[in-house]
Amino acid sequence: MHTPAITGSGVFTPDEIITNAELVEAFNAYADRKNAANAEAIAAGEMAPMAHSSEQFIFKASGIERRHVMNKSGILDPSVMHPLLRQRDDDEPSLMAEMALDAAKKALAQAGKGPEDIDLVICAASNMERAYPAMAIEIQDLLGIKGFAFDMNVACSSATFGIQTAADMVRSGSIRAALVVNPEICSGHLEWRDRDCHFIFGDVATATVIERMEDAKGPFFEILSTRCATQFSNNIRNNNGFLRRSRPDGVADRRDMQFMQNGRKVFKEVVPMVSTHIAEHMGDAGLQGADLTRMWLHQANKSMNDLIGKKVMGRTPEPQEQPNILQEYANTSSAGSIIAFAQNSDDMAEGDLGLICSFGAGYSVGSVLLRRHG
Ligand code: COA
Repeated sequence: MHTPAITGSGVFTPDEIITNAELVEAFNAYADRKNAANAEAIAAGEMAPMAHSSEQFIFKASGIERRHVMNKSGILDPSVMHPLLRQRDDDEPSLMAEMALDAAKKALAQAGKGPEDIDLVICAASNMERAYPAMAIEIQDLLGIKGFAFDMNVACSSATFGIQTAADMVRSGSIRAALVVNPEICSGHLEWRDRDCHFIFGDVATATVIERMEDAKGPFFEILSTRCATQFSNNIRNNNGFLRRSRPDGVADRRDMQFMQNGRKVFKEVVPMVSTHIAEHMGDAGLQGADLTRMWLHQANKSMNDLIGKKVMGRTPEPQEQPNILQEYANTSSAGSIIAFAQNSDDMAEGDLGLICSFGAGYSVGSVLLRRHG
Protein backbone atom coordinates (compact mmCIF):
# COMPACT_ATOMS: atom_id res chain seq x y z
CA MET A 1 0.00 0.00 0.00
CA HIS A 2 1.16 3.53 -0.82
CA THR A 3 0.35 6.80 0.91
CA PRO A 4 -1.44 9.23 -1.46
CA ALA A 5 -0.80 12.97 -1.44
CA ILE A 6 -2.01 16.12 -3.18
CA THR A 7 1.15 17.58 -4.67
CA GLY A 8 -0.27 20.29 -6.93
CA SER A 9 -3.39 22.35 -7.49
CA GLY A 10 -4.42 24.92 -10.08
CA VAL A 11 -7.29 27.31 -10.84
CA PHE A 12 -8.49 28.69 -14.16
CA THR A 13 -10.40 31.96 -13.63
CA PRO A 14 -12.40 33.38 -16.58
CA ASP A 15 -11.56 37.02 -17.40
CA GLU A 16 -15.13 38.28 -17.54
CA ILE A 17 -16.71 39.43 -14.27
CA ILE A 18 -20.32 40.26 -13.41
CA THR A 19 -20.85 42.36 -10.28
CA ASN A 20 -24.05 42.16 -8.26
CA ALA A 21 -24.93 45.68 -9.46
CA GLU A 22 -24.63 44.66 -13.15
CA LEU A 23 -26.56 41.46 -12.54
CA VAL A 24 -29.41 43.18 -10.76
CA GLU A 25 -29.64 45.90 -13.42
CA ALA A 26 -29.99 43.27 -16.18
CA PHE A 27 -32.48 41.19 -14.18
CA ASN A 28 -34.64 44.21 -13.36
CA ALA A 29 -34.64 45.28 -17.02
CA TYR A 30 -35.78 41.76 -17.97
CA ALA A 31 -38.51 41.85 -15.29
CA ASP A 32 -39.73 45.28 -16.48
CA ARG A 33 -39.92 44.05 -20.08
CA LYS A 34 -41.80 40.92 -19.07
CA ASN A 35 -44.24 42.91 -16.92
CA ALA A 36 -44.82 45.41 -19.75
CA ALA A 37 -45.45 42.58 -22.22
CA ASN A 38 -47.99 41.07 -19.85
CA ALA A 39 -49.51 44.31 -18.55
CA GLU A 40 -53.09 43.29 -19.35
CA ALA A 41 -52.87 39.90 -17.67
CA ILE A 42 -51.22 41.49 -14.65
CA ALA A 43 -53.90 44.22 -14.45
CA ALA A 44 -56.61 41.53 -14.69
CA GLY A 45 -55.01 39.66 -11.79
CA GLU A 46 -54.33 36.64 -14.02
CA MET A 47 -50.58 36.86 -13.61
CA ALA A 48 -48.32 38.08 -10.83
CA PRO A 49 -45.81 40.76 -11.83
CA MET A 50 -42.12 39.87 -11.57
CA ALA A 51 -40.48 41.55 -8.56
CA HIS A 52 -37.13 43.31 -8.78
CA SER A 53 -33.95 41.72 -7.48
CA SER A 54 -31.67 43.59 -5.08
CA GLU A 55 -27.93 43.85 -4.47
CA GLN A 56 -28.48 44.15 -0.72
CA PHE A 57 -30.48 40.90 -0.64
CA ILE A 58 -27.92 38.99 -2.66
CA PHE A 59 -24.97 39.97 -0.48
CA LYS A 60 -26.86 39.49 2.79
CA ALA A 61 -28.38 36.10 1.83
CA SER A 62 -25.28 34.61 0.22
CA GLY A 63 -22.09 36.63 0.80
CA ILE A 64 -21.57 36.80 -2.99
CA GLU A 65 -20.23 40.08 -4.45
CA ARG A 66 -19.35 39.09 -8.03
CA ARG A 67 -18.80 36.04 -10.27
CA HIS A 68 -16.51 35.14 -13.18
CA VAL A 69 -18.23 33.83 -16.31
CA MET A 70 -17.28 32.49 -19.73
CA ASN A 71 -19.65 34.96 -21.44
CA LYS A 72 -21.02 38.09 -19.86
CA SER A 73 -22.79 39.79 -22.78
CA GLY A 74 -25.51 37.15 -23.21
CA ILE A 75 -26.24 36.86 -19.50
CA LEU A 76 -26.63 40.63 -19.13
CA ASP A 77 -28.72 41.10 -22.28
CA PRO A 78 -32.38 41.23 -21.09
CA SER A 79 -33.46 39.70 -24.39
CA VAL A 80 -31.10 36.71 -23.97
CA MET A 81 -30.39 36.00 -20.24
CA HIS A 82 -27.95 33.12 -20.73
CA PRO A 83 -24.31 32.83 -21.89
CA LEU A 84 -23.70 32.97 -25.64
CA LEU A 85 -20.98 30.45 -26.41
CA ARG A 86 -19.59 29.84 -29.86
CA GLN A 87 -20.49 26.47 -31.39
CA ARG A 88 -17.18 24.63 -31.72
CA ASP A 89 -16.24 22.25 -34.45
CA ASP A 90 -15.78 18.62 -33.34
CA ASP A 91 -12.11 18.88 -34.29
CA GLU A 92 -11.52 21.83 -31.94
CA PRO A 93 -10.90 21.42 -28.21
CA SER A 94 -14.23 21.67 -26.40
CA LEU A 95 -14.77 24.52 -23.95
CA MET A 96 -14.70 22.40 -20.79
CA ALA A 97 -11.49 20.75 -21.97
CA GLU A 98 -9.88 24.12 -22.66
CA MET A 99 -10.76 25.41 -19.19
CA ALA A 100 -9.59 22.18 -17.54
CA LEU A 101 -6.33 22.29 -19.49
CA ASP A 102 -5.36 25.67 -18.05
CA ALA A 103 -6.00 24.53 -14.46
CA ALA A 104 -4.31 21.18 -15.11
CA LYS A 105 -1.12 22.79 -16.43
CA LYS A 106 -0.90 24.96 -13.31
CA ALA A 107 -1.42 21.94 -11.03
CA LEU A 108 1.19 19.88 -12.91
CA ALA A 109 3.69 22.78 -12.76
CA GLN A 110 3.20 23.11 -9.01
CA ALA A 111 3.73 19.36 -8.57
CA GLY A 112 6.82 19.51 -10.83
CA LYS A 113 5.32 16.78 -13.03
CA GLY A 114 4.80 16.28 -16.74
CA PRO A 115 2.19 14.33 -18.73
CA GLU A 116 4.47 11.26 -18.67
CA ASP A 117 4.12 11.07 -14.87
CA ILE A 118 0.30 10.83 -14.90
CA ASP A 119 -1.64 7.67 -15.69
CA LEU A 120 -5.22 8.62 -14.85
CA VAL A 121 -7.37 11.68 -15.65
CA ILE A 122 -10.73 12.11 -13.93
CA CYS A 123 -13.02 14.89 -15.12
CA ALA A 124 -15.27 15.39 -12.10
CA ALA A 125 -17.91 18.07 -12.57
CA SER A 126 -21.64 18.72 -12.17
CA ASN A 127 -22.37 18.92 -15.90
CA MET A 128 -20.66 17.47 -18.94
CA GLU A 129 -20.68 19.38 -22.21
CA ARG A 130 -21.71 16.24 -24.09
CA ALA A 131 -22.64 12.65 -23.32
CA TYR A 132 -19.59 11.04 -24.94
CA PRO A 133 -16.75 10.61 -25.64
CA ALA A 134 -15.78 11.38 -22.04
CA MET A 135 -14.48 14.91 -21.44
CA ALA A 136 -11.66 13.33 -19.44
CA ILE A 137 -10.42 11.37 -22.47
CA GLU A 138 -10.27 14.54 -24.56
CA ILE A 139 -8.34 16.31 -21.78
CA GLN A 140 -6.03 13.30 -21.47
CA ASP A 141 -5.40 13.48 -25.23
CA LEU A 142 -4.79 17.25 -25.26
CA LEU A 143 -2.24 16.88 -22.45
CA GLY A 144 -0.56 13.87 -24.05
CA ILE A 145 -1.16 11.60 -21.06
CA LYS A 146 -1.08 7.81 -21.46
CA GLY A 147 -3.14 5.43 -19.31
CA PHE A 148 -6.87 6.00 -18.92
CA ALA A 149 -9.50 8.62 -18.17
CA PHE A 150 -13.15 8.87 -17.21
CA ASP A 151 -15.87 11.33 -16.19
CA MET A 152 -17.66 11.49 -12.85
CA ASN A 153 -20.65 13.56 -11.80
CA VAL A 154 -21.64 13.94 -8.16
CA ALA A 155 -22.74 17.61 -8.60
CA CYS A 156 -21.09 19.90 -6.04
CA SER A 157 -19.22 16.97 -4.47
CA SER A 158 -17.62 15.80 -7.70
CA ALA A 159 -14.12 17.03 -6.80
CA THR A 160 -13.87 15.33 -3.40
CA PHE A 161 -15.41 12.11 -4.72
CA GLY A 162 -12.87 12.29 -7.56
CA ILE A 163 -10.00 12.81 -5.12
CA GLN A 164 -11.14 9.80 -3.07
CA THR A 165 -11.31 7.67 -6.23
CA ALA A 166 -7.82 8.73 -7.31
CA ALA A 167 -6.36 8.42 -3.80
CA ASP A 168 -7.72 4.87 -3.43
CA MET A 169 -6.12 3.86 -6.74
CA VAL A 170 -2.79 5.38 -5.72
CA ARG A 171 -3.03 3.60 -2.36
CA SER A 172 -3.72 0.22 -3.93
CA GLY A 173 -1.03 0.61 -6.58
CA SER A 174 -3.29 0.39 -9.64
CA ILE A 175 -2.03 3.85 -10.67
CA ARG A 176 0.98 5.91 -9.70
CA ALA A 177 -0.46 9.42 -10.21
CA ALA A 178 -3.75 11.05 -11.20
CA LEU A 179 -4.99 14.39 -12.40
CA VAL A 180 -8.48 15.34 -11.19
CA VAL A 181 -10.01 18.27 -13.09
CA ASN A 182 -13.21 20.18 -12.31
CA PRO A 183 -14.31 22.46 -15.16
CA GLU A 184 -17.58 24.07 -14.10
CA ILE A 185 -19.64 26.17 -16.57
CA CYS A 186 -22.38 26.79 -14.03
CA SER A 187 -23.63 29.80 -16.02
CA GLY A 188 -24.87 27.31 -18.63
CA HIS A 189 -27.38 25.63 -16.31
CA LEU A 190 -28.34 28.57 -14.10
CA GLU A 191 -31.76 30.14 -14.74
CA TRP A 192 -30.73 33.80 -14.91
CA ARG A 193 -34.43 34.80 -15.18
CA ASP A 194 -35.27 33.41 -11.73
CA ARG A 195 -34.91 36.01 -8.96
CA ASP A 196 -34.55 33.34 -6.25
CA CYS A 197 -31.35 31.91 -7.70
CA HIS A 198 -30.03 34.17 -10.52
CA PHE A 199 -27.10 35.33 -8.37
CA ILE A 200 -25.87 31.95 -7.20
CA PHE A 201 -23.35 30.60 -9.71
CA GLY A 202 -20.11 31.45 -11.52
CA ASP A 203 -17.70 29.65 -13.88
CA VAL A 204 -14.20 28.31 -13.11
CA ALA A 205 -12.01 25.21 -13.47
CA THR A 206 -9.78 23.58 -10.85
CA ALA A 207 -7.30 20.71 -10.92
CA THR A 208 -5.36 18.61 -8.41
CA VAL A 209 -2.49 16.17 -8.81
CA ILE A 210 -2.75 13.08 -6.58
CA GLU A 211 0.23 10.76 -6.40
CA ARG A 212 2.38 8.64 -4.10
CA MET A 213 3.74 10.69 -1.21
CA GLU A 214 7.24 9.41 -1.93
CA ASP A 215 7.08 10.89 -5.46
CA ALA A 216 6.43 14.46 -4.26
CA LYS A 217 9.02 16.96 -5.44
CA GLY A 218 8.05 19.96 -3.30
CA PRO A 219 5.75 20.79 -0.36
CA PHE A 220 2.64 18.58 -0.40
CA PHE A 221 -0.45 17.44 1.49
CA GLU A 222 -0.55 13.83 2.67
CA ILE A 223 -4.08 12.40 2.29
CA LEU A 224 -4.71 10.89 5.73
CA SER A 225 -8.21 9.68 4.86
CA THR A 226 -11.29 10.46 2.76
CA ARG A 227 -15.00 9.97 3.34
CA CYS A 228 -17.98 10.20 0.98
CA ALA A 229 -21.69 10.00 1.79
CA THR A 230 -24.94 10.42 -0.16
CA GLN A 231 -28.61 10.67 0.73
CA PHE A 232 -31.28 11.10 -1.96
CA SER A 233 -33.05 14.47 -2.10
CA ASN A 234 -35.11 16.34 -4.72
CA ASN A 235 -34.25 19.72 -3.21
CA ILE A 236 -31.53 20.45 -5.78
CA ARG A 237 -32.41 19.08 -9.18
CA ASN A 238 -31.97 19.56 -12.93
CA ASN A 239 -34.23 17.46 -15.19
CA ASN A 240 -32.35 18.03 -18.43
CA GLY A 241 -31.27 14.75 -19.96
CA PHE A 242 -31.01 12.49 -22.97
CA LEU A 243 -34.70 11.51 -22.89
CA ARG A 244 -35.75 15.11 -23.33
CA ARG A 245 -36.96 14.87 -26.93
CA SER A 246 -39.00 11.75 -26.13
CA ARG A 247 -41.32 13.67 -23.76
CA PRO A 248 -44.59 15.25 -24.99
CA ASP A 249 -43.23 18.81 -24.62
CA GLY A 250 -39.88 17.73 -26.02
CA VAL A 251 -37.20 20.37 -26.14
CA ALA A 252 -39.43 23.16 -24.79
CA ASP A 253 -37.73 25.76 -22.62
CA ARG A 254 -39.11 24.30 -19.41
CA ARG A 255 -37.97 25.76 -16.07
CA ASP A 256 -36.88 22.35 -14.79
CA MET A 257 -34.31 22.01 -17.60
CA GLN A 258 -32.10 24.38 -15.58
CA PHE A 259 -30.90 24.32 -11.98
CA MET A 260 -33.72 24.25 -9.44
CA GLN A 261 -33.52 24.28 -5.69
CA ASN A 262 -35.49 24.66 -2.54
CA GLY A 263 -32.79 26.85 -0.99
CA ARG A 264 -34.25 27.12 2.50
CA LYS A 265 -34.61 23.33 2.84
CA VAL A 266 -31.12 22.76 1.45
CA PHE A 267 -29.71 25.16 4.00
CA LYS A 268 -31.57 23.53 6.92
CA GLU A 269 -30.88 19.92 5.97
CA VAL A 270 -27.34 20.13 4.66
CA VAL A 271 -25.73 22.11 7.54
CA PRO A 272 -26.34 19.36 10.17
CA MET A 273 -25.54 16.60 7.64
CA VAL A 274 -22.15 18.15 6.88
CA SER A 275 -21.28 19.03 10.48
CA THR A 276 -22.00 15.46 11.62
CA HIS A 277 -20.12 14.01 8.64
CA ILE A 278 -16.97 16.01 9.44
CA ALA A 279 -17.18 15.23 13.19
CA GLU A 280 -17.49 11.50 12.48
CA HIS A 281 -14.73 11.52 9.87
CA MET A 282 -12.37 13.29 12.27
CA GLY A 283 -13.45 11.18 15.25
CA ASP A 284 -12.67 7.95 13.39
CA ALA A 285 -9.22 9.38 12.63
CA GLY A 286 -8.69 9.98 16.38
CA LEU A 287 -9.00 13.75 15.88
CA GLN A 288 -11.45 16.54 16.55
CA GLY A 289 -12.41 19.75 14.79
CA ALA A 290 -10.19 21.83 17.07
CA ASP A 291 -7.15 19.98 15.66
CA LEU A 292 -7.69 21.55 12.23
CA THR A 293 -5.53 24.47 11.16
CA ARG A 294 -7.70 24.99 8.10
CA MET A 295 -11.06 24.05 6.62
CA TRP A 296 -11.70 24.50 2.90
CA LEU A 297 -15.47 24.23 2.64
CA HIS A 298 -17.77 24.06 -0.37
CA GLN A 299 -18.58 27.62 -1.41
CA ALA A 300 -22.36 27.98 -1.70
CA ASN A 301 -23.36 30.37 1.04
CA LYS A 302 -21.36 32.31 3.65
CA SER A 303 -23.87 31.80 6.48
CA MET A 304 -23.86 28.05 5.83
CA ASN A 305 -20.06 27.98 6.05
CA ASP A 306 -20.07 30.13 9.21
CA LEU A 307 -22.46 27.67 10.88
CA ILE A 308 -20.54 24.57 9.79
CA GLY A 309 -17.20 26.13 10.80
CA LYS A 310 -18.50 26.98 14.26
CA LYS A 311 -19.99 23.51 14.80
CA VAL A 312 -16.84 21.72 13.67
CA MET A 313 -14.29 23.87 15.50
CA GLY A 314 -16.42 24.49 18.61
CA ARG A 315 -15.86 28.25 18.23
CA THR A 316 -16.07 30.89 15.51
CA PRO A 317 -13.14 30.15 13.17
CA GLU A 318 -10.81 33.01 12.26
CA PRO A 319 -11.25 34.07 8.59
CA GLN A 320 -7.89 32.51 7.63
CA GLU A 321 -8.86 29.22 9.31
CA GLN A 322 -11.95 28.86 7.11
CA PRO A 323 -11.29 30.90 3.98
CA ASN A 324 -14.23 31.88 1.78
CA ILE A 325 -13.83 32.67 -1.89
CA LEU A 326 -17.50 32.95 -2.83
CA GLN A 327 -17.49 36.74 -2.52
CA GLU A 328 -15.25 36.69 -5.64
CA TYR A 329 -16.38 33.53 -7.49
CA ALA A 330 -19.95 32.84 -6.22
CA ASN A 331 -20.88 29.14 -6.08
CA THR A 332 -18.73 27.25 -8.59
CA SER A 333 -20.16 23.84 -7.69
CA SER A 334 -17.49 21.16 -7.28
CA ALA A 335 -14.61 23.61 -7.82
CA GLY A 336 -15.40 25.89 -4.85
CA SER A 337 -13.61 24.02 -2.05
CA ILE A 338 -10.65 23.39 -4.38
CA ILE A 339 -10.30 27.12 -5.19
CA ALA A 340 -10.32 27.82 -1.43
CA PHE A 341 -7.65 25.12 -0.97
CA ALA A 342 -5.47 26.20 -3.90
CA GLN A 343 -5.49 29.87 -2.88
CA ASN A 344 -5.18 29.42 0.88
CA SER A 345 -2.76 26.62 1.72
CA ASP A 346 0.80 27.73 0.88
CA ASP A 347 1.35 29.33 4.28
CA MET A 348 0.65 26.17 6.28
CA ALA A 349 3.45 24.65 8.40
CA GLU A 350 4.83 21.11 8.56
CA GLY A 351 2.33 18.85 10.33
CA ASP A 352 -0.65 21.24 10.11
CA LEU A 353 -3.97 19.51 9.49
CA GLY A 354 -6.60 20.67 7.02
CA LEU A 355 -9.89 19.38 5.67
CA ILE A 356 -11.49 19.86 2.25
CA CYS A 357 -15.25 19.36 2.41
CA SER A 358 -17.80 19.62 -0.39
CA PHE A 359 -21.56 19.24 -0.22
CA GLY A 360 -24.56 19.71 -2.47
CA ALA A 361 -27.01 18.01 -4.79
CA GLY A 362 -27.72 14.35 -4.25
CA TYR A 363 -27.46 15.18 -1.36
CA SER A 364 -23.76 14.44 -1.33
CA VAL A 365 -20.92 15.24 1.04
CA GLY A 366 -17.24 14.42 0.65
CA SER A 367 -14.31 15.18 2.95
CA VAL A 368 -10.56 14.83 2.51
CA LEU A 369 -8.34 15.01 5.60
CA LEU A 370 -4.87 16.36 4.87
CA ARG A 371 -1.53 16.84 6.65
CA ARG A 372 0.95 19.44 5.37
CA HIS A 373 4.56 18.42 4.68
CA GLY A 374 7.40 20.69 3.63
N1 COA B 1 -33.72 39.99 -4.48
C1 COA B 1 -34.52 40.47 -3.50
N2 COA B 1 -35.30 39.69 -2.75
C2 COA B 1 -35.29 38.37 -2.98
C3 COA B 1 -34.48 37.80 -3.99
C4 COA B 1 -33.68 38.67 -4.75
N3 COA B 1 -32.87 38.22 -5.73
N4 COA B 1 -34.66 36.47 -3.99
C5 COA B 1 -35.55 36.20 -3.02
N5 COA B 1 -35.94 37.34 -2.41
C6 COA B 1 -36.90 37.50 -1.32
C7 COA B 1 -37.92 36.37 -1.30
O1 COA B 1 -38.98 36.68 -2.17
C8 COA B 1 -38.30 36.31 0.16
O2 COA B 1 -39.25 37.32 0.40
P1 COA B 1 -40.45 37.06 1.47
O3 COA B 1 -39.76 36.86 2.78
O4 COA B 1 -41.24 38.30 1.36
O5 COA B 1 -41.13 35.83 0.99
C9 COA B 1 -37.03 36.70 0.89
O6 COA B 1 -36.22 37.40 -0.07
C10 COA B 1 -36.26 35.48 1.42
O7 COA B 1 -36.10 34.55 0.34
P2 COA B 1 -35.45 33.10 0.55
O8 COA B 1 -35.41 32.39 -0.76
O9 COA B 1 -36.15 32.41 1.67
O10 COA B 1 -33.97 33.54 0.98
P3 COA B 1 -32.89 32.76 1.80
O11 COA B 1 -32.53 33.58 2.97
O12 COA B 1 -33.24 31.33 2.04
O13 COA B 1 -31.64 32.80 0.80
C11 COA B 1 -30.43 31.31 -0.66
C12 COA B 1 -31.69 32.16 -0.45
C13 COA B 1 -30.58 30.54 -1.95
C14 COA B 1 -29.23 32.23 -0.75
C15 COA B 1 -30.24 30.35 0.53
O14 COA B 1 -31.43 29.64 0.79
C16 COA B 1 -29.14 29.33 0.31
O15 COA B 1 -28.00 29.66 0.12
N6 COA B 1 -29.47 28.03 0.40
C17 COA B 1 -28.53 26.97 0.22
C18 COA B 1 -28.08 26.98 -1.20
C19 COA B 1 -27.15 25.88 -1.55
O16 COA B 1 -26.28 25.53 -0.84
N7 COA B 1 -27.37 25.33 -2.69
C20 COA B 1 -26.53 24.35 -3.19
C21 COA B 1 -26.45 24.59 -4.62
S1 COA B 1 -25.28 23.56 -5.30
